[in-house]
Amino acid sequence: MAEKQALPSESSHHQNQSAGQRRPATPSSPGRPVTPRGAARPATRPTLADIISEQEGIFIRRQPESGRLASKATSALAGGVTSNWQISRPQPVWLSHGSGSKLYDVDGNEYVDLHGGYGVSLAGHAHPAIVAAVQHQVTRGTHFAQPTRDALAVAAQLGSRFGLPQWRFANSGTEATMDAIHLMRAITGRDVIIKVEGCYHGHHDSVQVSVYPEPEDMGDADRPASAPASTGIPKAFTDLTVIVGFSDLAAVERVLAEHKDQVAGMIVEPIMMNAGIIMPKPGYLAALKELLHANQALLTFDEIKTGLTAGPAGAIGVTGVTPDIVCLAKAIGGGVSVAAIGGTAEVMKHVTNGDYEMVGTFNGNPLAMAATRAMLYEVATPEAYTKIDLLRRRATDGAQEAIARHGLAARVVSVGAKGCIVFTDRPVGNFRDFLAINDEYSHAHWLFQHNGGVFLPPWGKAEQWLISVQHDSADIDRFNGNVARFAASIAGVGKVLDSAQ
Ligand SMILES: Cc1ncc(COP(=O)(O)O)c(C=O)c1O
Repeated sequence: MAEKQALPSESSHHQNQSAGQRRPATPSSPGRPVTPRGAARPATRPTLADIISEQEGIFIRRQPESGRLASKATSALAGGVTSNWQISRPQPVWLSHGSGSKLYDVDGNEYVDLHGGYGVSLAGHAHPAIVAAVQHQVTRGTHFAQPTRDALAVAAQLGSRFGLPQWRFANSGTEATMDAIHLMRAITGRDVIIKVEGCYHGHHDSVQVSVYPEPEDMGDADRPASAPASTGIPKAFTDLTVIVGFSDLAAVERVLAEHKDQVAGMIVEPIMMNAGIIMPKPGYLAALKELLHANQALLTFDEIKTGLTAGPAGAIGVTGVTPDIVCLAKAIGGGVSVAAIGGTAEVMKHVTNGDYEMVGTFNGNPLAMAATRAMLYEVATPEAYTKIDLLRRRATDGAQEAIARHGLAARVVSVGAKGCIVFTDRPVGNFRDFLAINDEYSHAHWLFQHNGGVFLPPWGKAEQWLISVQHDSADIDRFNGNVARFAASIAGVGKVLDSAQ
């Protein structure tokens, strides 16, 4: 096995992250050279920037129609896309359709879809059960703003999986976490909420705080600042959201003491995503719940990414800790937009008695409920999770083997249907550890995968793959082959660095 190659300096590498934004606004910021300035380098060895530039050239040559549409779109779509997260380097990819585990772009290229629409497509594309449920409902009406039988079946299934008895529905993750925070405030009569640095919970005011903060805005590690994640967020809101590090129980204890009788509750991703995948420290979540309850404050789990994908009962099932409120969205609708908010009887009685006005025209929309019912009862089955686990292991072991063979300082982290390569050999336990990872490796990896027919989520180091119930071992082998090609190419850069240091 090759000797372990040092990856370049792990100094904060966030130049792609423009101020106040979770992800870059500039689709084509150039790759940073990874060798020290002025260092002697054998002419034959490419730098990481050279490799990225070559791969970006291939990318653009493969996608002329995407390029044409991207240019045309700038006049009608602000920024040429329908959400900032659809911007990718070197250009956005325009899609034609999906089928099973595959995606097809407008240039006719086929991809194994491990992007999963940012964690939605656990069912894969055009799954027969989802198609049948949606087709059936379309012919019977797509909107009533009245409850249907499917809503009851969905609530029953969510209740038995997640251990929370009562449910309401919404349309996006943002709405779900907004309702959860309103509920925590309504129940306690308090305004302050605690949020973890680097967690993304949607784009409403209370949680658009310290999502992907710039180092100069972050404050001390033991007392993180509340940094607005976007313009347009009133300071009054930002000030009510107090920031702590992930798995840092002492920080929560300090905040509760410093804001005595003011904290309504805390929102946390029980397994932190949007920063690769960071598992909680053992015992953290159970102790957190106890600590918050001792201070008459509530605990909300944001399981918008982990719900159904970390396992059949999300991170609640993985960690064994049940919060007061859970927020679900993304994968639960089988590709149709839906969200769910589950709560204890104690929490939900404040909805029942009208204390908290929980409303929405499209809540419990019949089309969304039909798709969610099919997802829960026919797609996300025990057999499907067994298959996904085999594929997860195949992807994890295969990628890890290629990384080890080429001696890269990187590792694979996976849970359930989700996984990612973390480009460091240092421990990553919170956002600050994560921020120090050089993003250019993830970008280079993304390009190798894309040009090799595998679509991963564009914003490399933050995002994870999603394996669907329709993937098979050939799909995973295509992914692993690309990891091997990437690792072989990057190992050369490592040698250059070694010789330059
Ligand atoms: C953990 C988490 N919470 C909330 C959201 C917001 O969900 P949505 O984009 O559906 O509003 C996201 C979206 O990426 C997320 O990853």
